[in-house]
Amino acid sequence: MTQPKHGTKPIVIEETAGKKAYCWCGLSAKLPYCDGTHGREQTGVKPIVCEVDKPGRKAVCQCHRTGTPPWCDGTHARQ
Ligand code: FES
Repeated sequence: MTQPKHGTKPIVIEETAGKKAYCWCGLSAKLPYCDGTHGREQTGVKPIVCEVDKPGRKAVCQCHRTGTPPWCDGTHARQ
């Protein structure tokens, strides 16, 4: 299996409103967004699909230890 590309710090983006799919397997070539690799690699991990209500700056968790997925809650800096 391909090694995850995600890091240990959030990816900060200027997000638009609407339905989004954020990668949670760490293999996407389009981080922080899902590109379907989780299915091709049969990871068993699915993206986090959510509705973004308002456009603006978002920090998408990459350490996968946040308590508020897909958003960073600062856990990466505490542990
Ligand atoms: S990257 Fe910040 S909590 Fe995961």
